[in-house]
Amino acid sequence: IPPLIIDCDPGVDDAHALFAAIGARQRLGLEAVTVVAGNVGLGFTRANALRIRDATGLDAAALPIHAGCPAPLTGGTTDAADIHGQDGLDGAGLPPSRGDVEPAHAVTFLIERLRRAAAQGRPVRLVTLGPLTNLAAALILAPDIVDGLLEVRAMVGSAARGNITSAAEFNAFVDPEALDRVAAALDVPDDVAPRLHVYGLTLTHTVCADAAEIARYAALGTVPGRAIAGMLGAYLSRHRTPPLPGMGGAPADAAPLHDPCVIGHLLAPDAVAGVDGRMTVVLRGPARGQTLASFGDGAPAAGRARDVRVRWMVDGDAAALMAALRDAVA
Ligand code: BDR
Ligand code: CA
Repeated sequence: IPPLIIDCDPGVDDAHALFAAIGARQRLGLEAVTVVAGNVGLGFTRANALRIRDATGLDAAALPIHAGCPAPLTGGTTDAADIHGQDGLDGAGLPPSRGDVEPAHAVTFLIERLRRAAAQGRPVRLVTLGPLTNLAAALILAPDIVDGLLEVRAMVGSAARGNITSAAEFNAFVDPEALDRVAAALDVPDDVAPRLHVYGLTLTHTVCADAAEIARYAALGTVPGRAIAGMLGAYLSRHRTPPLPGMGGAPADAAPLHDPCVIGHLLAPDAVAGVDGRMTVVLRGPARGQTLASFGDGAPAAGRARDVRVRWMVDGDAAALMAALRDAVA
């Protein structure tokens, strides 16, 4: 099993994903978590990762957490507190964090860990569930670390429409320059399997939790089960995205499990199908943050300077993904 690092911005659905990944940490090879600003500010995402670790009974020795960048590469920021609550984990009912993050900044940690992975010939699988600022900053400072990455599985983007704007998905919109840099660094020739796997809204809007799914978590009777049920209940009541044309799923009475889809796929490898193709990140204009998709082994699209090879994860077995996540949390 390749070593697994999760970069995230908890966030209700990040928290759900983390609880599942921690529950299956040996099977997944989970060894560290890094956090970034996104759904809420870095102070909250850092505290929330610690609160989640506390709730599972793990400590810093078992799961180190590194705090990373407080703002996107080009500054400014956009949060999603309207969806996740003021502190990012509305409804979780988790106590304040004990313990602390590691002394090393997430970017420093990623550089050192990925260099070691390259030297040992044991590359790391990186899952990103927030804006890609931490990895992009690490790649700017140390481009050689790309050799320490087996693959990056990112909840980001959309092959169709967006959610924060009609064009852009939230994680891509918050730091499009970071996504563009990461994608360019991971680009591969046409005959090589893509190293960037994009779990966008096209997939995540087909994997939705309704009241019955929330009740299944509550029925676990554990601290993580109750926290997930509480958070998903609050998330569902705040989720205002109407059904999105052409993207299936996401009925009004259910909320998309964006970030858990990536962990669900690691747990149930047959539950998601991907299509190889290309992605261009729109950096300017009203469609800033849009991820333009093409499918197949074709050359870069005309007029797109950085149309890079990615695997679009587009088709999921929602029931299998949700069952795998529940089992891991249980
Ligand atoms: C993504 O945006 C965030 O609000 C969620 O945590 C998820 O990572 C979905 O667009
Ligand atoms: Ca997230």
